[in-house]
Amino acid sequence: MQDTLNALAAKALTELANIESRPDFEAAKARLVGPNGELTAQMKQMGKVPKEERPAMGKLINQTKVRIQELLDAVLARIEAAELQAQLGPAIDSTLPSPDIGPGTHHPLTLVREEMCRILHKVGFTVADGPEVETEYYCFDALNTPADHPARDAQDTFYFPQTTNFKNVAKKNPDERYLLRTHTSSVQIRTMLKGEPPIRIVSPGRVYRRDTSDATHSANFQQLECLYVDKNVTVRDLKALLDYVFESLLGKDTKTRFRPHYFGYTEPSFEVDLSAAHLPKVKKEWIEIGGCGMVDPTVFADVGYDPEVWSGYAFGMGIERLAMLLYGIDDIRYFYQNDLRFLKQFA
Ligand code: DAH
Repeated sequence: MQDTLNALAAKALTELANIESRPDFEAAKARLVGPNGELTAQMKQMGKVPKEERPAMGKLINQTKVRIQELLDAVLARIEAAELQAQLGPAIDSTLPSPDIGPGTHHPLTLVREEMCRILHKVGFTVADGPEVETEYYCFDALNTPADHPARDAQDTFYFPQTTNFKNVAKKNPDERYLLRTHTSSVQIRTMLKGEPPIRIVSPGRVYRRDTSDATHSANFQQLECLYVDKNVTVRDLKALLDYVFESLLGKDTKTRFRPHYFGYTEPSFEVDLSAAHLPKVKKEWIEIGGCGMVDPTVFADVGYDPEVWSGYAFGMGIERLAMLLYGIDDIRYFYQNDLRFLKQFA
């Protein structure tokens, strides 16, 4: 019996070495250790073994069983690895160039944002950044927008629960709420609180309002804010800058006009309209593009600037609206759908 068992282990070794497929493996396994297999047959012989030899024989059977099981496990692992390899296909060299055609393109909103920053950079404006999560102070109070102003209504604004805490956005007052900024004008305050005039910044970025999405509205869109603070700044400077900016972006035939308006943080305040009949799809003579005005003395006083010494202008506008004008896009939702057929047109 001892010889038979040793022969069985040797046979398992050679037989299993050549097995490549699961059916062959299952068949071999059944032949060796299955209920009708050769090892089982040996175990059934145990009754015939003389009593004093049984412990030694039992041990040998167990050793043979363990040995064969190890061989079976190794073969199964080999077959599984080969199956996985077949599924994965040939090895990929991740250092080769991508098979995708061509490099990516900039999003049209990125193009307009960058172009506006470039145009403003030429006349001395540098980019300032601000957080998209704001507090009521920076978004409203410091901008002379009191608690009962409609812009602060929960219908218009995304507030966070009172208990929310953003460790990287410092509150001015401990009990004020956080919100998603409704405009980029909050960056005016953050910039002025950081340093002294003269200041000349442009701040592009996302803003959030409770708007129902349609062809011209989105709850999340982008604005571009400018602030200029110096001595003897006038409305004429503001108008000249806006003329320069829009002519540079949209072409020489572009005209601007101011309409009197109210914003808490500027006095006087205006809405800015554009006339750009040379652009595709522009049907109206005047198109509203943003708001502006001369920085209100209350705002200066709040950030610790002497309103008797300093003067300045500010304006803000929507980047989507500008891009729609420039490229003749008639639905704001195209910007957010990530449809390559749309995006590739701006390559
Ligand atoms: N914050 C205004 C808005 O979101 C736009 C605006 C108006 C910005 C007047 C300004 C400004 O800087 O002076 O509608």
